[in-house]
Amino acid sequence: MNISVTPSYDVVKYERILDKTAVVIDALRASATMITAISNGCERILPVEDTEVAMDTYKLTEGDKLLCGESRAKKLPGYDLGNSPLEYTRQMVEGKIIIYCTSNGTKAVKSAFDANKTLIGTFVNASMVAAKILEEGRDTVLVCAGTKHCFSMEDMLAAGCILDKMKGMEGIFGLDDYGLLALRTYRSYRNNLMEMMQGTRHYEYIKSLGFEEDIKYCFSEDICDILPVYEEGVVVDEKSLRRD
Ligand code: MLT
Repeated sequence: MNISVTPSYDVVKYERILDKTAVVIDALRASATMITAISNGCERILPVEDTEVAMDTYKLTEGDKLLCGESRAKKLPGYDLGNSPLEYTRQMVEGKIIIYCTSNGTKAVKSAFDANKTLIGTFVNASMVAAKILEEGRDTVLVCAGTKHCFSMEDMLAAGCILDKMKGMEGIFGLDDYGLLALRTYRSYRNNLMEMMQGTRHYEYIKSLGFEEDIKYCFSEDICDILPVYEEGVVVDEKSLRRD
């Protein structure tokens, strides 16, 4: 079993993702937001690549729906919710269909559409993701979303955190160089991840907008006991797909 990590979702087309497990990681904040929404009972999420598609999808979708997401990390005019995971409370999202558009995260989800299984993962559900990768036993690509087509520190640290949760299993899988970098960086800074984040682009931008609470939440490990999967264009709770 081989595991590789990408610096941004753009690289996915060069990776051979077919027949692999993919994990989409947008640590600040799209992965945490989707995981929180599913955890709080949202029926499904429809990730879309841009605002035009978001509006068309919203109009065509029947049922109890919310139009959600961001541009430059800010809630868009006319949208029901922005991209703060803390907005996605049970009261707000339970039973709802979420049409969701973000700058990098939803594009990263769509880039992984032809994987055998596409999971949404980050710090908040790291152990669940790690266990699932091992259970599936397939070659795996951790798709770091990145920011504006470039490497983003927080995604690499989240990839390292997921790899770390496979404790002691490194011996049984092959890890590429970027994966080793992610794992070793996470292990070196695990007790002070914010030190590692100082001066990084998206983190500083999010902080400048006053989203400190989001940052704390997004870097909290294993606070959500949920595994969202992307299948046939929608993100749902993995449990809802199990057929006994
Ligand atoms: C994205 O998809 O780029 C984001 O999650 C940006 C944000 O923090 O809102």
